[in-house]
Amino acid sequence: MMPEASGDEEDDLVARARSARSRAYAPYSHFYVGAAIRAAGDVFVGANVENASYGLGICAERVAAATAVASGSLAFDAVAVTSSAVDPTPPCGACRQFLYEFNPEMLVVSEGADGERRRWRLSELLVDGFGPADLRRPRIGEEEER
Ligand code: THU
Repeated sequence: MMPEASGDEEDDLVARARSARSRAYAPYSHFYVGAAIRAAGDVFVGANVENASYGLGICAERVAAATAVASGSLAFDAVAVTSSAVDPTPPCGACRQFLYEFNPEMLVVSEGADGERRRWRLSELLVDGFGPADLRRPRIGEEEER
């Protein structure tokens, strides 16, 4: 099922992601990404931050998520992503997992440079994802613990 269509709130979230993209630090890939997360009415933004030690770079989505959490907001409703690409960029696998922790049903909307948008539920992008509940399930050898 297609998640809900565009509205003012979505337009605002995408605009915030676009603005965050202008602050991306991506001197190595030159692929600039901005993200904005809506959580209980508040918006938290992020941009990708690369590093001369290439593997340490972090995606815009995870910067936004960590900023939200550090600000005390964990109930994510939606995330908007914008990038340098003409077509809408889907979040990478690591970011899907990182976001899944906070709400598998959040709306993910991505806008390409030409204005086209794609929308998904996070659970469509990460099917049968691993989350906090999986750590609460019975484990083998439990009786030996402690
Ligand atoms: N990137 C993101 O910020 N988000 C994504 O979902 C895909 C990739 C960044 C990581 C790296 O700085 C650059 O884009 C190229 O991969």
